[in-house]
Amino acid sequence: MSDNNLLTLKNVSRHFGGLKVLQDVNLDIPKGGIFGLIGPNGAGKTTVFNLITGLLPTTSGTIHFEGRDLAGRKPFQITRGGIARTFQNIRIFKEMSLLENVTVGMDAKLRYGPLGLLAGSGLFRSEEKRARDRARELLSWVKLDHKAHDVADNLSYGDQRKLELARALATEPTLLLLDEPVAGMNSTEKSELMVEIENIAARGFTVFMIEHDMRFVMGLCQQIAVLNFGRIIARGGPDQIRNDPQVIEAYLGREDDEATNDQETAA
Ligand SMILES: Nc1ncnc2c1ncn2[C@@H]1O[C@H](COP(=O)(O)OP(=O)(O)O)[C@@H](O)[C@H]1O
Ligand SMILES: [Mg+2]
Repeated sequence: MSDNNLLTLKNVSRHFGGLKVLQDVNLDIPKGGIFGLIGPNGAGKTTVFNLITGLLPTTSGTIHFEGRDLAGRKPFQITRGGIARTFQNIRIFKEMSLLENVTVGMDAKLRYGPLGLLAGSGLFRSEEKRARDRARELLSWVKLDHKAHDVADNLSYGDQRKLELARALATEPTLLLLDEPVAGMNSTEKSELMVEIENIAARGFTVFMIEHDMRFVMGLCQQIAVLNFGRIIARGGPDQIRNDPQVIEAYLGREDDEATNDQETAA
């Protein structure tokens, strides 16, 4: 394993009963930059994230993060270890303010740390202030700081997605997993998010994203892997992927599928 790899999947398979959703997936995510995973609907992309984040165990194969085997770790342990994610379907607390949504993301670390014992003390209060300041900063990264005290439910769909991203960052991850971050966004929101994700990567977070929007993926990612029927069929830079005959056959020729998927996600 090269030292430069943050995450390594080795011969990873996941079966559901007789359904072989992932088969012998090998994937190295280098430290730094933006990595993309694309593939048709049902290819197994979200399952890859579910395995990495410990929501599901692998059927076989291993996943290493910073050289450590993730087998048997619970999702909260994996989050604490430095991997955060967003979900294909938004999961935010709609009745809470934006600021509260983001500070809740930090609580995982605060609650289990020694600070939990100091509740009510001066040190705890200064720690809370630090958390709120950081939450505001993270909201500013996705241009939502001016709405910090609004209720999340009042946000547009695109802004709710951005809030989810800020909340994922609140755990101070080394690796940020984004599952279809621009699904349901209009083109203005997509362009804004593209710049924001670039800035997040420039700040040192490694980004690994699943995305359907080809222009978005090709514009952002240095490296892209293509999953088809549970197998990696290609890996390379945007130009290499765009011109790969197998990829064109499996995926890029199927614009209809993408359009349907976007409508479903937006609904
Ligand atoms: N928990 C599960 N139980 C049974 N089947 C699942 C489960 N999760 C995913 N699948 C199946 O695995 C396949 C791949 O799903 P998924 O990883 O969500 O694909 P993608 O994100 O590429 O669209 C689908 O056929 C889906 O129905
Ligand atoms: Mg998916």
